Amino acid sequence: MPTASILGESDDHVRMAARLLREGELVALPTETVYGLAGNARLETTVRSIFTVKGRPLIDPLIVHVHDFSQVEELCADVPPIAHQLAEAFWPGPLTLILPKAPQVSDLLTAGHPTVAVRMPAHPLARRILQAADVPLAAPSANPFGYISPTCAEHVQESLGERIGWIVDGGPCQKGIESTIIDVSTPGEIRLLRPGPLTGEQISEALNGLPVTTPAATSSDKPVAPGMLTRHYSPHTPLTLVPNGQLPPAIPPTAPEGSSAWLATARPRADASSPAYTRYWFSETGALEDISQSLFGMLRKLDQAGHSHIYVELPPSDGLGLSLIDRLNRAAAR
Ligand code: TXA
Ligand code: MG
Repeated sequence: MPTASILGESDDHVRMAARLLREGELVALPTETVYGLAGNARLETTVRSIFTVKGRPLIDPLIVHVHDFSQVEELCADVPPIAHQLAEAFWPGPLTLILPKAPQVSDLLTAGHPTVAVRMPAHPLARRILQAADVPLAAPSANPFGYISPTCAEHVQESLGERIGWIVDGGPCQKGIESTIIDVSTPGEIRLLRPGPLTGEQISEALNGLPVTTPAATSSDKPVAPGMLTRHYSPHTPLTLVPNGQLPPAIPPTAPEGSSAWLATARPRADASSPAYTRYWFSETGALEDISQSLFGMLRKLDQAGHSHIYVELPPSDGLGLSLIDRLNRAAAR
């Protein structure tokens, strides 16, 4: 079974990844959020191959990753002042801005929309590769369309290794969920399209309290705006969400192999009425940042363990917890 070659963080490997990317090859890269499947955003055939490799419908536009502001200006002719303010506050970092697109940006990349999604990632290895490649890189999460996003190189190898040539291994992703997407393409409106590591509150604070609105999600597979599919990030195993603090109290009879898995937000306390069947937890303490980091990895692990059903305890619904609940709701949707 052919697998992708793994590149590391040496200067030689960075140069090689950058050259491959400039020439139009696809290379999976680490970012601080999740691993991305990167390709030269200026090359139409490369952009098309990203959609093909992921099995992604052409109606779902890509995010372009940049190294500096001159690349933003190549993608967006007229950057709104609010975008400058947000970039100043959060770039490099887990924020994607939706901006009016420049005419030369491919319609394939933006799925025909008059806007383009742009992000300046913070991961040092991603930044070195972007700088060496010296071209903007289109990069969706490096997973087959609809499946759980990858947060380490092994996840990429597992699900796309037979379809791509190279994966740059930059270790586990620090944030663990995809960037926060803010649409500032309409003057006077700031819309939160996808909650992420940065919360709506943090965005609003950076803008001296300007209101950030959240468009309602759609329930069908025809989103009103791109990026709002109800079902996404989905394990194959059926998943049921349990309110915070309410994993069932009763211990089921000796659980046979392949039966249900129970995934708690924190390690159950030894003195608690000890649900012995809660064998899995996202985090020792239940800290939201730790849950975020391990969220997709735990879902993947349990999805592959042959359980008939996975029950997941929801995190508390404030701050980063809201972004985690967003991902879990989509993972559970059928
Ligand atoms: O953290 C991230 O953003 C990761 C890493 C690799 O950077 N990337 C990522 O890309 O999550 P992807 O393709 O899995 O998700 C991009 C989302 C999609 O939901 C897409 O619909 C939305 O961004 N998007 C892209 N262009 C857009 C546009 N012009 N307007 C609205 N949404 C857009
Ligand atoms: Mg994705």
